[in-house]
Amino acid sequence: MKVFHIIAALLVASVSALTIHQVDDGVSSLVYRAPNPVNYSLLAAQLSPGASIVFPDNPQFDLLQQRWQEYSRPTYSAIVQAATEDDVRKTVLFANKHSLPFLAVAGAHGFLTTLGRMQGGIAISLANMKGISLNKEGDCAELQPGLTNGELIRYLWPRGKQAVTGNCLCTGIMGIMLGGGHGFLQGIHGLLVDQILEASVVLANGKLVVASPTSNPDLFWALRGAGHNFGIVTRVKYKIYNAIPKWTFSTIIFTQDKLEKVFEVANALLPEADHPAELILMYQFVRLPIDPKSASIMIYLIWAGDSAGLDKYAARFRALGPAQETLQTDISYPDVFKGREDETNPGTCAKGWYRLLFNNYLKRFNPEALRKVHTIFTKATDEYPDTQTRSIYVFEPYSQQGVTAVPFESTAVPFRGYPVLASPVWGYTNASYTNGLVAASREMRKILTDGDGDGKLRSYVNYAFGDEALSENYGHEPWRVKKLKALKKKYDPEGRFSFYAPIDVGRRP
Ligand SMILES: Cc1cc2nc3c(=O)[nH]c(=O)nc-3n(C[C@H](O)[C@H](O)[C@H](O)COP(=O)(O)OP(=O)(O)OC[C@H]3O[C@@H](n4cnc5c(N)ncnc54)[C@H](O)[C@@H]3O)c2cc1C
Ligand SMILES: *[C@@H]1O[C@H](CO)[C@@H](O)[C@H](O)[C@H]1NC(C)=O
Ligand SMILES: *[C@@H]1O[C@H](CO)[C@@H](O)[C@H](O)[C@H]1NC(C)=O
Repeated sequence: MKVFHIIAALLVASVSALTIHQVDDGVSSLVYRAPNPVNYSLLAAQLSPGASIVFPDNPQFDLLQQRWQEYSRPTYSAIVQAATEDDVRKTVLFANKHSLPFLAVAGAHGFLTTLGRMQGGIAISLANMKGISLNKEGDCAELQPGLTNGELIRYLWPRGKQAVTGNCLCTGIMGIMLGGGHGFLQGIHGLLVDQILEASVVLANGKLVVASPTSNPDLFWALRGAGHNFGIVTRVKYKIYNAIPKWTFSTIIFTQDKLEKVFEVANALLPEADHPAELILMYQFVRLPIDPKSASIMIYLIWAGDSAGLDKYAARFRALGPAQETLQTDISYPDVFKGREDETNPGTCAKGWYRLLFNNYLKRFNPEALRKVHTIFTKATDEYPDTQTRSIYVFEPYSQQGVTAVPFESTAVPFRGYPVLASPVWGYTNASYTNGLVAASREMRKILTDGDGDGKLRSYVNYAFGDEALSENYGHEPWRVKKLKALKKKYDPEGRFSFYAPIDVGRRP
């Protein structure tokens, strides 16, 4: 046992002193409180030599329990830092024996309010399990669950390889993967879930099973889109590709008066025919010094190749008269993230702030609805000043070729074919802003939903707030929720994995 605080292990753990601001997500009455007290020394005796248990009286505890989103967060009576699959299994069995809730923690960037329902349980930290083993052919790697996107990208690049990951380097790759997983390479290779060949999973009853097309195929289906509800994944076999050696990155900024024109071009670039897999686009409303009165529009145009390939698309925006453009040519894939989506940028990676997201998948950009959203976003950033340098409204219309090539019913990912993912990403430190920002965000989400076809909310589970109906996170075709509920009953009948967009019987339909 590395840092084993056996003395503290006898004690039981007062829940940390941090102030929790439980947001009303309509289901908070389901908060699960741990019974006390529990004697952890029996667990300690079963863990591998590389594992440790950290208690709230340990000086490291506060740092270890930090999360990206702090306004509705789980609290822990102990953090078990697992080193092996068996540590995970033993901890689940121990938690079951003592009726303690538990939660897998990888990158700690999950932000659903439903995470705040776990109070005083065991965190099963996977963060020290960071193994990568690439096969000889270089087309498949076994990944352990503690890896971040950045760790995988930086391991593969010098080996001439790439894999589909999320775009923010500090986020845990498995948390992303289990909800579907969007990334810059999805147009070329598909979503993160589409890369999984096989997974090892610790189930709610502590059994370790393999999920693949031939072993527990129903679990394999559910893991890919609703995975947080079904077990703790301790290993995946993951597809690996040859790296694209050269990248081009243009950042183009417009003042708000160009909003309608910008999104007309954005719409013209939505059909797959006009949006090659190599083109990656992202639009943001963001407060910038170039316009102190209103949110500006910042566009990332990224091209998997040299600048000649990008120019054709950038030209359409350049013709609208941007306020600014910064162009980087011949950069490496890791440099695509540098300073923007990496550990040096607190906007994306800082832990310990309050954060809120409220997302929609959209068929297209509705300039009229976007103008309304822009006005509300600008007003809210004026009213709640510490959001100004920490917040954006992001629109991610990544290319779809790889995503739509996969049969829609073959995984639990519900909304393939909706190309635009939209959400405010609020960051702030003054807790009193929460209610106002929640109200503004609900209003903006509804404007976008109503402005896009059938008026149904389609939400990416990994960007969800926590107030969505099951069908809004898992699919409007009735068979999807029905199938997930049946599988939940089979694999997790007691609802042990119910803190992340839970598929519980009795939850809103
Ligand atoms: C800055 C930022 C950038 C993001 N960028 C993207 C992006 O580019 N693409 C995208 O699709 N999403 C993105 N997301 C959303 C992201 O998918 C979720 O926040 C995800 O939950 C993060 O996973 P994590 O491991 O960091 O978080 P954690 O909070 O550690 O985990 C999140 C949930 O997953 C569960 N979990 C984690 N590991 C396992 C496991 N091995 N087995 C079972 N359950 C597990 C946890 O129990 C928890 O319920 C981003 C989020 C942030 C904050
Ligand atoms: C906890 O369990 C250990 C091992 O069984 C035992 O030695 C110890 O006395 C127990 N502590 C308490 C406070 O019950
Ligand atoms: C937080 O915001 C409120 C107003 O919403 C303000 O009264 C208070 O002073 C702010 N607190 C801090 C620490 O800035």
